[in-house]
Amino acid sequence: MDTETLKSKCTHLWRESGRLWLDFRTQTSAIHVDALERKWITISLLVIGLMVTIITLDALFDGINPPSKVETIDSASLHLSEEFAEDNLGVQVDDKGKVTIRMVAGRYSFFPKHIDVPAETQLTFRWVSMDVLHGVHIPMTNMSTMIVPGYVAEVTTTIPKPGEYPMLCNEYCGLGHNHMWSNISVIAKEDWQAPAKTLVKGGKP
Ligand code: CUA
Repeated sequence: MDTETLKSKCTHLWRESGRLWLDFRTQTSAIHVDALERKWITISLLVIGLMVTIITLDALFDGINPPSKVETIDSASLHLSEEFAEDNLGVQVDDKGKVTIRMVAGRYSFFPKHIDVPAETQLTFRWVSMDVLHGVHIPMTNMSTMIVPGYVAEVTTTIPKPGEYPMLCNEYCGLGHNHMWSNISVIAKEDWQAPAKTLVKGGKP
């Protein structure tokens, strides 16, 4: 393509886009938008723009990831995995005294159905889903995360107040979603007994 043809093509494109923009303007100006409505549209667009900017900056400069830190796992074979095999679920304490809780979410429960954890102690929860997207929320605590199939969601938290708490699914996962829950007993630190089995396989040390 010689320079002349390129030039004329560009001029044509430029004119064409100008014409389209004018068309767009004429058509949209024919729609009446109330001044107040226009104000709110602008505010909402600005808020969306701000959010998108924050998310983009966080992703680019702070490497913000899902709670999984992008740790992947095969959801279809959890029972065969070293870490999330049935015997390994629930509360475990390693020789340094670190408390790790491994839980599997599946339609429609969290497994194991009931766990005992100590209050005022750092707890590391490792959640996986065996089927679809679930979420877990323990009311009155800051335990809340999505459990995305294919990823391990890790949350470290401390529950200060002893008591009985439900674990609720907070992502719609099917017809039984509103029956999807388990229990967690938070026991005063001095009364809590570490489970006899302290074997920790797989996962992070
Ligand atoms: Cu699981 Cu909703």
